[in-house]
Amino acid sequence: MTQPFVLHFKPSISRIEESTDHVIVQSHIANGNVPQYKLDIKQVSPGLLTVFRTLGNDGATEKDLSNLVLDADGFSELPKLYYYLQKFIDLGMICHTIVCEGYPLATRLPIYPTQKFQFTDIKIDQKYVLSRFAYSYKEQEQLVLSSPLVSAQIILANWKGAAVIAELTQPQTCQELCTRIPDISQQLMQLFLSLLLSTKMLCEVKMDGKTEEETNKNLVSWEFHDLLFHCRHRKGKHSYPTGKTFRFLDKLEQPPLAKTKMSNDIIELYRPDLKKLKDEDYSFTWVLEARQSIRSYKDEPITDRQLGEFLYRSARNKRIIYKDYGECTHRPYANGGGRYELELYTIINTCNNITSGIYHYCPQEHQLCRLSGRNSYVEALLEDAYFATGKASMPQVLFIYAARFSRIAWVYESIAYSLILKDVGCLQQTMYLVATAMNLAPCAIGCGNSDLFATAVGADYYEETSVGEFILGSNTEI
Ligand SMILES: Cc1cc2nc3c(=O)[nH]c(=O)nc-3n(C[C@H](O)[C@H](O)[C@H](O)COP(=O)(O)O)c2cc1C
Repeated sequence: MTQPFVLHFKPSISRIEESTDHVIVQSHIANGNVPQYKLDIKQVSPGLLTVFRTLGNDGATEKDLSNLVLDADGFSELPKLYYYLQKFIDLGMICHTIVCEGYPLATRLPIYPTQKFQFTDIKIDQKYVLSRFAYSYKEQEQLVLSSPLVSAQIILANWKGAAVIAELTQPQTCQELCTRIPDISQQLMQLFLSLLLSTKMLCEVKMDGKTEEETNKNLVSWEFHDLLFHCRHRKGKHSYPTGKTFRFLDKLEQPPLAKTKMSNDIIELYRPDLKKLKDEDYSFTWVLEARQSIRSYKDEPITDRQLGEFLYRSARNKRIIYKDYGECTHRPYANGGGRYELELYTIINTCNNITSGIYHYCPQEHQLCRLSGRNSYVEALLEDAYFATGKASMPQVLFIYAARFSRIAWVYESIAYSLILKDVGCLQQTMYLVATAMNLAPCAIGCGNSDLFATAVGADYYEETSVGEFILGSNTEI
């Protein structure tokens, strides 16, 4: 059945007329994510030329496009029309729009080529429900319906489309929807549901009241935010630029290499003799094999000297590196692009010669800057970590890693947050190994309270937010 969708090229498709019978149709310049496609079409008939022009302008239904070819070229050119239409659709170049009373209701915008894309017919008495992965947001003054399950978006061009989506949070038949939203005819409603179903925004409700999404064992373990984050920070599924794009180059000043000192109440930390350590340290294999998470401590707390050595060996600035786009540093742990966006806050519960409180670590000078003494925030942050260990022991020292988000987002697009989490892993593993080599008790913590942290240190949540935790203490196991 010919569907009354209006077909048109998506905005990023360009059409170059080399001559009246030679047309080049190509997708946008590859951005490291979506490949570029180019069709060099020769011996273009006058009818086909009109079709290509129409697709590049307001578009037309398949029936109207075939009439253009029939009128100008006759029946013999029709197979060519259908060949090219299918080719454009397969290459993700064509949008499908539903027009309601002269205005667009919804448009399917493909992002990636989809081989054999087809619309699924809608049964009038079948119940459908919105996918739990579908979400809508504002992009360039449009309401967009998207889903991490699919490489296409639906542009909701007016309130009627948005109203249908809202109703579909409950299972509905096409007929029921038409009674609730009488502004859309049954034929258009069927078409709209077909658009949603074939773009995986909609699920069929089966006889047992369940959807495929609910019974698919590979999908059930994905929470909405995890799947969305996964798809948006990896290449594929979306068309956003990905990687080093420097999108803020002329817009935002580059965040500095390091924070200015947060207080004048400074503790100079002990610096170990690395040359001596290189000769006397445990072997690398011993450290790797001995590493484990230890959550209980000796009665005597960790010392200021041990804390100094630990921070020096795992997190100090070793040197500054000058890249063409600014200063970067080198530290004992690896970090995406050498941006070193992680700030290290040290929450002391018990440590010989350092009073309990919150401190910020200066990696350049290898100092602790005291921010506050023991207060209710210190208690709450320590307690949070204590609960995360299954109440093993109150941590002697809690490190909170906070990311200066814009330091990494200034360089990287689409992947900035994921790089931060990977950097957390690198720092945690380095801390594990250094602690093992020093016979200390280390343990990573899976989740902390970013709101509590921001209040405790007076940080703007969006400028600098906590992203990782690690606890340390004296080791009972030696
Ligand atoms: C990212 C990450 C998060 C963790 N979160 C916690 C946690 O919240 N509480 C805890 O007691 N242990 C935590 N651990 C420690 C793991 O439980 C531990 O590494 C794992 O059981 C393996 O044991 P091992 O480290 O002794 O080899 C975490 C470890 C990692 C790497």
